[in-house]
Amino acid sequence: MYSEKVMDHFNNPRNVGEIANPSGVGTVGNAKCGDIMRMYLEIDDDGIIKDVKFKTFGCGAAVATSSMATELVKGKNIQQALEVTNKAVMDALDGLPPVKVHCSLLAEEAIHAALWDYAEKNGIVIEGLEKPAADIEEKIAEEY
Ligand code: FES
Repeated sequence: MYSEKVMDHFNNPRNVGEIANPSGVGTVGNAKCGDIMRMYLEIDDDGIIKDVKFKTFGCGAAVATSSMATELVKGKNIQQALEVTNKAVMDALDGLPPVKVHCSLLAEEAIHAALWDYAEKNGIVIEGLEKPAADIEEKIAEEY
């Protein structure tokens, strides 16, 4: 049912934890399953994501997608991080079962929420970044 990459990231998730005094932090939930994701970003003066950590009360697919998402955004600039969509993360994991696709939205939205927080703290506007939903059910209703 799950690809080897999903199992690897589920069993050995990368970048789990917290960042003290993060540049941005975002939390999103999925009201339907009750799962929650929090993402921390450390962004340097050049706008490069130096470090990223996540914590979750989430299912295995949410853990695996968040782990892969952190790997994909680390070392990238903000615009490149915005390109790390849930579809890009799923591709990098060799796919997810259809019933688990919504879980991958938690990681994408949590990154967006952390970037939003970073932008607000610094009084900047990040082109292409929409205000993230606190509950991804709103997003799922729009897109699926
Ligand atoms: Fe809730 Fe996967 S079942 S995020």
